[in-house]
Amino acid sequence: MTRLFGVIGHPIAHSLSPAMHTAALRALRLDACYGAFDVPKRFLRPMLRALVLAGVEGLNVTVPLKEAVIPLLDRMDPTARAIGAVNTVVIRNRRLIGHNTDAAGFRRALVEDLRCNVRGARVLLLGAGGAARAAAWALAKAGARTVWVANRTPRKAARLVRWLRRRAGTRCAAVAWREEALKTAVRDADLVVNATTVGMRPRDGSPIDPAWLRRGTRVYDLVYHRETLLVRAARRRGCVAAGGVSMLLYQGAASLRLWTRRAP
Ligand SMILES: NC(=O)c1ccc[n+]([C@@H]2O[C@H](COP(=O)([O-])OP(=O)(O)OC[C@H]3O[C@@H](n4cnc5c(N)ncnc54)[C@H](OP(=O)(O)O)[C@@H]3O)[C@@H](O)[C@H]2O)c1
Repeated sequence: MTRLFGVIGHPIAHSLSPAMHTAALRALRLDACYGAFDVPKRFLRPMLRALVLAGVEGLNVTVPLKEAVIPLLDRMDPTARAIGAVNTVVIRNRRLIGHNTDAAGFRRALVEDLRCNVRGARVLLLGAGGAARAAAWALAKAGARTVWVANRTPRKAARLVRWLRRRAGTRCAAVAWREEALKTAVRDADLVVNATTVGMRPRDGSPIDPAWLRRGTRVYDLVYHRETLLVRAARRRGCVAAGGVSMLLYQGAASLRLWTRRAP
């Protein structure tokens, strides 16, 4: 019987997951298909039930459902529980198990795409939303020496810093979203990570002035929709820089492994 997988979110039309997973399932020669389901939050419970009854074995979960799905799960893996967000659901015997593969995907992207050894590194993390939390967790687990968090809304940066200290025991501090403070942090950082949405839209600028970057600094931009101004300018300044496609690919590969126990 054809195996069923998919992604839920709202909106969902822009998602690259169907194309990526369909190609991977084909490469694995599995009789399976992967669909995109537009699920507004208020329909999450009945839609999940319908998908389970239809025999779906695995789901990716995207914005705005990564936290909303948690109360509807039977169990969560420790990483997803620690991060407080689920991007992958494994469905076995009608039981739903939540995972988070964003953190693992991000960590693998730093190693394979950026050749970046996070152990002992000083990291500036821009943003304090869901993706920043997964990135912060991965940085802490990979042994970053210090994580500085800068966010446009300061109380969210402060909240992420408190969470990271409590959960991972990592040295971290909030940095003001102001020129002087950001400039100093960029200069001192071995790795700069953009986990804001700045760069998603075609006419977006860069979240920091790339002129502040030192040659050799590593730069990872989670935005995967296009090559961002930050990545382009960082490369021109002699930094090793990469965009978020690799993280997208690796978190997807980790999801597929959880569902099928096969590696694409
Ligand atoms: N590559 C991957 O696999 C992958 C996976 C997950 C996410 N992502 C990407 O990561 C990015 C963040 O996603 P998310 O889920 O964390 O979103 P989110 O929870 O909505 O957080 C958005 C973040 O961007 C900041 N922001 C928004 N507009 C800004 C502006 N004009 N100037 C400065 N900061 C601004 C927000 O700051 P405030 O708190 O001040 O609003 C917040 O920190 C998106 O581009 C997403 O596509 C990539």
